[in-house]
Amino acid sequence: MVVLLLAALPGSGMAESTTGVPSPDLATFEAITGESPEEDHSAWDRFYKKKNHAFGKEAIGFLKENIKILPKGRAFVPAMGEGRNAIFLARHGFRVEGVDLSQVAVDRALQEAKAKKTFIKGIVGDLFEFPYPKEAYDFILVSLFYSERLLPKLKNALKKGGYIMIYLKRDTGRQSTSLVPDDFAVKAGALKAALVDFETLIYREFIEQNMDMIAILARKK
Ligand SMILES: C[S@@+](CC[C@H](N)C(=O)[O-])C[C@H]1O[C@@H](n2cnc3c(N)ncnc32)[C@H](O)[C@@H]1O
Repeated sequence: MVVLLLAALPGSGMAESTTGVPSPDLATFEAITGESPEEDHSAWDRFYKKKNHAFGKEAIGFLKENIKILPKGRAFVPAMGEGRNAIFLARHGFRVEGVDLSQVAVDRALQEAKAKKTFIKGIVGDLFEFPYPKEAYDFILVSLFYSERLLPKLKNALKKGGYIMIYLKRDTGRQSTSLVPDDFAVKAGALKAALVDFETLIYREFIEQNMDMIAILARKK
């Protein structure tokens, strides 16, 4: 696996990012790329080339609402996409490392961080092959991406007492028309069960932008 480590340092020579918020689009990921969203970086690159701020420009509300109670320190953002949450964390004093399969998304995240005069470490790589450090992070944020197979690796990468926040679509059995792939959706109750060895601090099921959502904040015991 080739892992590229990039950083949003002034003078890093990257091209200026494009601007403009995409118009709402009800097409599904598969309809845009014709491919499965889980592991194909070229499919995600094609997806992001067609859309700027594909999942929004702002950090997720659940993160914003709870930022004050999170332990500051080293944060990991797997599947960070265009970096909306990673940048928000960096602006709130975290040292942030974000990983994503898509070079296009990571480049955009770094450009945006630079434009906002903040710093994140951006890594282009596959989370299924990533060399996770052991008990290294104070906080892990997972947004609109999920794999049961990865969860043990994330748990292990978190310090004792560290926090994990997971924000996902809820699998209701109905196919949705939103841009967020259903592949990462979980059934009600599945997140709590997956984090049974953690202390659950906040758990919510709610509707946001016409999507059924689940969010959890939990602490490693
Ligand atoms: C639905 S997007 C969510 C992006 C971001 N978390 C957000 O909330 O805006 C899913 C992201 O997962 C990334 N991804 C999918 N499979 C991956 C993998 N195996 N390793 C790393 N990133 C992956 C995609 O490139 C994409 O950016």
